[in-house]
Amino acid sequence: MSALGEYAGLSLPRSAIIGNRIVVLDAIDSTNSFALATGGDGTVVVSDTQTAGRGRLGRTWLSLSGQGLWFSVRLEGLIKGLVFAAALAVRDAIDRAPNVAIKWPNDILVNKKKVCGILAEHRDGISVLGIGINVHQQPDAFPRDLRSKASSLQHEFGGTWSRAHLLESVLTHLERSVMLLRSGAYDSIRDSWADACDLQGQAVRVDGISGRVIEIDASGALQIETPSGVRTVVSGDMTRVEKE
Ligand code: BTN
Repeated sequence: MSALGEYAGLSLPRSAIIGNRIVVLDAIDSTNSFALATGGDGTVVVSDTQTAGRGRLGRTWLSLSGQGLWFSVRLEGLIKGLVFAAALAVRDAIDRAPNVAIKWPNDILVNKKKVCGILAEHRDGISVLGIGINVHQQPDAFPRDLRSKASSLQHEFGGTWSRAHLLESVLTHLERSVMLLRSGAYDSIRDSWADACDLQGQAVRVDGISGRVIEIDASGALQIETPSGVRTVVSGDMTRVEKE
């Protein structure tokens, strides 16, 4: 089935801003690039495959055909807290089971393996939220070095997963939380996200900085107590350090 056919039955409330226009593509370099270049407030761009999907920290995001849900949402304005809202929306769309977790800053893990990454980009007063969810991959679809860290919903949960239903569910949750952010509810979204990250008091290592997390601060940064004082970490690859 073409991507157009697969996503044709998507049903969102008429009043919804997010998804008021949905651009369905078979292939594109990056849905984020497409959405940064064109569209209106709430336009969603989804593609069956991306030839140059972008990840955080300048990485590429593997986006094979038929394997995952690769999409971007274009929003007017620089919306503070967007990635927190996105992480909560994806978590809630997948499930709230205890084996589904938000990993600071914005990955979704199932059974401690990454199934989703989020990349927010901004240009000329536009925010684009890019979300990649691994849906159908078996372990050998990932490069060897990622197999112990990455997985898919199908592999972790079994059962049948529909990319269209998943998209519908993420967009529905996102609509609610983006509306909340736009009405000034940043603190409550940030608090829910920080609670879900569950890092307070945890021993962590982020890009060479090791210590115990004092808190996730108002901006979403980690405040880490280290032997050389408190360090603020706004982004990076975080790992929890297991107790000996
Ligand atoms: C990460 O590194 O964890 C973030 C990955 C974000 C990938 C998504 S897939 C849809 C959108 N288009 C892109 O080029 N990247 C994002």
